[in-house]
Amino acid sequence: MLKGKFITLEGVDGAGKSTHIPFIAKLIRSRGVELVLTREPGGTAVGEQLRDLLLREHMSPETETLVMFAARCEHLKQVICPALERGCWVLSDRFTDASFAYQHGGRGVSQQKIEILEQWVQEGLQPDLTLLFDVPVDVCRARLNESRDPDRFERENQTFFERVRHAYLQRARDFPPRIRVIDANRPLDEIHKELEEIILSI
Ligand code: TYD
Repeated sequence: MLKGKFITLEGVDGAGKSTHIPFIAKLIRSRGVELVLTREPGGTAVGEQLRDLLLREHMSPETETLVMFAARCEHLKQVICPALERGCWVLSDRFTDASFAYQHGGRGVSQQKIEILEQWVQEGLQPDLTLLFDVPVDVCRARLNESRDPDRFERENQTFFERVRHAYLQRARDFPPRIRVIDANRPLDEIHKELEEIILSI
């Protein structure tokens, strides 16, 4: 029996997820809830090494998908499930919706193959809430261009990111009310107000 809540954050690179994480974490902790903040790919020693490989080395879309799920398997066993069992809340910067968006939507790996890995690794576990930060791709690209050293995903072209965004929005249509789309192309205080309402409601 899992006692904590599992919240995941998603969005195309450059949608501003990272800007909102400290606000969300502070909001949850301000209610006296113990929170584990983590990320994918990564979150464990093995997962962080796999992240380095994923962000740097060229590999086939299938290998990329399997390595994402290898990192996720370790993350679930070492971090996410033990925390939820203790009654902590877990806030993960990305989770399996990213595999459907990037590896299926972006790279074209079949949805069915990803569903098989999802079932194998998660055994039915799903986030209680997923916040999908949505911004038009050209706005995301402009933000990324201002940033340092792009990784292997960030170097992809506009049409790749259009496919990723489309796949994320399709997931949101397929999985209401778990996935909430946040229009992240608005002033920060408006976004914060909406995040506050959603988080307090769970
Ligand atoms: P990201 O959260 O963007 O890291 P940062 O903000 O530090 O750049 O995650 C790294 C990349 O990993 C991102 O481009 C999306 C990709 N990714 C997938 O392709 N599939 C997945 O299942 C996950 C978790 C991430």
